[in-house]
Amino acid sequence: MDANASGLFISIEGGDGAGKSTQAALLERRLRAEGWPVLLTHEPGGVPLGDYIRSWVKSEDAPLTPEAELLLFAASRAELVNRVIRPALAQGAVVIADRYADSTTAYQGGARGLSVKSVRAANEIATGGVWPRRTLLLDMPLAEIQRRVQMQFSFDETGRIEPPARVDDPGERRFELLGSDFHRRVAEAYRRLAKAEPERWTVLDGARPVEEVAEDVYARVRELLAGPPPNPNKPAPPPA
Ligand code: TYD
Repeated sequence: MDANASGLFISIEGGDGAGKSTQAALLERRLRAEGWPVLLTHEPGGVPLGDYIRSWVKSEDAPLTPEAELLLFAASRAELVNRVIRPALAQGAVVIADRYADSTTAYQGGARGLSVKSVRAANEIATGGVWPRRTLLLDMPLAEIQRRVQMQFSFDETGRIEPPARVDDPGERRFELLGSDFHRRVAEAYRRLAKAEPERWTVLDGARPVEEVAEDVYARVRELLAGPPPNPNKPAPPPA
């Protein structure tokens, strides 16, 4: 099934602290202001089971084997795809996914070391074949990723450093606390994925000022949207 048949599915990927959520929100706001119906998702979460899973997988104390971790992310995604993403695409929305199945390949496959076969099987079940038309990788030097993860900085729209945009509850930093080797493996896995499937992936330098990255992100997505928005003079409301 071509899930993009009526809508457009975009995902944004990258390591912890790469600025995905900031960029996804800026893109959403800009497209919506132009009159495009937009749905923004962020994994894990966005559906009741996903929110429940989110607190477990992010918890520093909750015991979790890599295999269970893989299946929990997959379960969260299966709910999100079937209940939210697929229906939105069928209604013609632009779906912006702040993380999707490639996160599982990079984190549980590349960094945790689970087999390609297991990760592929989990992703196949979770996505049901719904894959983004374009995936934007916010790449940056490992040292920069490390710095951002350690400092828990985030950046506002003008590039100023401000307190974390999404404040994690205390004790919910399982991935942020993993060492530099883990985050290097995540970054390398993403680069390998982008190289293996260049027609889907676009690699962007995420270490540039926020507004520069945002322009780039917008341009790459805008070129995929044919014609004028459905309601050019009427900003689209958030989906119900
Ligand atoms: P989150 O606070 O949402 O981080 P981010 O803003 O970087 O998305 O935490 C989600 C964490 O879960 C993040 O460290 C990446 C990890 N993750 C996986 O390991 N596998 C996955 O499939 C997904 C979606 C996320």
